[in-house]
Amino acid sequence: MAGLIDKHIILGISGGIAAYKTIDLVRYLKEQGSDVKVIMTKSAKKFVAPLSLQTISRHPVLDNFLSTQTESSMPHIALGKWADLVLIAPATANLLARLAVGLANDLLCSLCLATTAPIAVAPAMNQQMYKAIATQTNLNTLRDRGVLIWGPDYGHQACDDIGYGRMIDPKVLVEYINHYFSHDDSLNHLNIMITAGPTHEALDPIRFFTNYSSGKMGFAIAQAAADKGAKVTLITGPVHLSTPIRVRRIDVISALDMKSAVMQEIKNQHIFIGCAAVSDYRIYHSSLEKIKKDKDILKLVMVKNPDIVSEVGSLIEKRPYVVGFAAESKNIQQHAKDKRISKHLDLICANDISYLNQGFNSDNNSLYLFWNKGSVILPLRKKRVLAQQLIREIINLYNENN
Ligand code: PMT
Repeated sequence: MAGLIDKHIILGISGGIAAYKTIDLVRYLKEQGSDVKVIMTKSAKKFVAPLSLQTISRHPVLDNFLSTQTESSMPHIALGKWADLVLIAPATANLLARLAVGLANDLLCSLCLATTAPIAVAPAMNQQMYKAIATQTNLNTLRDRGVLIWGPDYGHQACDDIGYGRMIDPKVLVEYINHYFSHDDSLNHLNIMITAGPTHEALDPIRFFTNYSSGKMGFAIAQAAADKGAKVTLITGPVHLSTPIRVRRIDVISALDMKSAVMQEIKNQHIFIGCAAVSDYRIYHSSLEKIKKDKDILKLVMVKNPDIVSEVGSLIEKRPYVVGFAAESKNIQQHAKDKRISKHLDLICANDISYLNQGFNSDNNSLYLFWNKGSVILPLRKKRVLAQQLIREIINLYNENN
């Protein structure tokens, strides 16, 4: 990982159960050639022994301003200047709140105010604490200030809950840092909006219609575009995926929500990529109460949803370059070509969903690309790699059109 060689990383550890994972995190960073200095909050020391971190990092572990261990009488200033990156992992709800307010009541928070280095946080907490409006507001405040938010992951938690709140795996965090330092800025003049995932169309408060889209394809495209420096807005239906690095994510539930999120910002975009599997229909009258099992036959009336990609394709003013997807199980090429024209698209990417090992909810995919003057096939491969090829194709076509 070339991006990590000779990097100075301050690892701030706050007091959560995931703190024990930081021993591996420091080890991996050192193995990749980075120099790591650790700062712990008071409560972090209850979850992991400072001596272990000191032994692995080969630097004294710091925890307060006034210590004989520090090389300087003002360690927050000196460390702030030394750092190429400040990573706080795990970042508890309490730590995020303190950062959002700008408190300087311990060494770690003071350093965050004193440094000009980029700051990244890897949130880790109970899923309900993560969902709390206060925590989300704090995260938004930090994101708006340019703090990188890495995670959290979805899964089982120490408290037996299941949801978002697990700290990202140390190996993945190391990849994120490497990504960060290996940045290619060739697309930094472009705003790219991508939709991903399924939509949920409510039947009643606890039931909905949906499909098997996992969001993996759209998220991979978002990461591929952000890796080249594009300013990416990812509008996603409900999925269990971590936000790609350097991508602005907007979560929505239904097709109507997705349409309004898209339309609100579409006029600032250079390229729009509609990868979401948007439900074609929604329940005409979704019930506010749980539907009872008192009828033998339940008739549902469904109404067509607006076609988002087609509305973007029909824009007259400030129309972006528009890319749509087509999920087809037969006559793929003809259906895709017809769809490109009927939805007013510049480019359509068709996937064959009749195979189980590609398309919906798979790690792999292949695509047929059709535009007004040509076509190309991108053969079966990991969505991550396919997305990089797709971004290259889209950018070439966009450049030919502009
Ligand atoms: O999410 P994954 O598990 O990774 O799977 C990826 C995928 C198979 C979902 C993806 O590659 C894909 O094909 N997405 C489009 C699926 C789809 O809804 O295809 P469609 O042929 O029904 O729609 C055609 C286009 O119209 C799509 O760009 C779709 O986003 C758009 N559309 C559809 C309906 C609607 N109401 N509004 C839309 O914008």
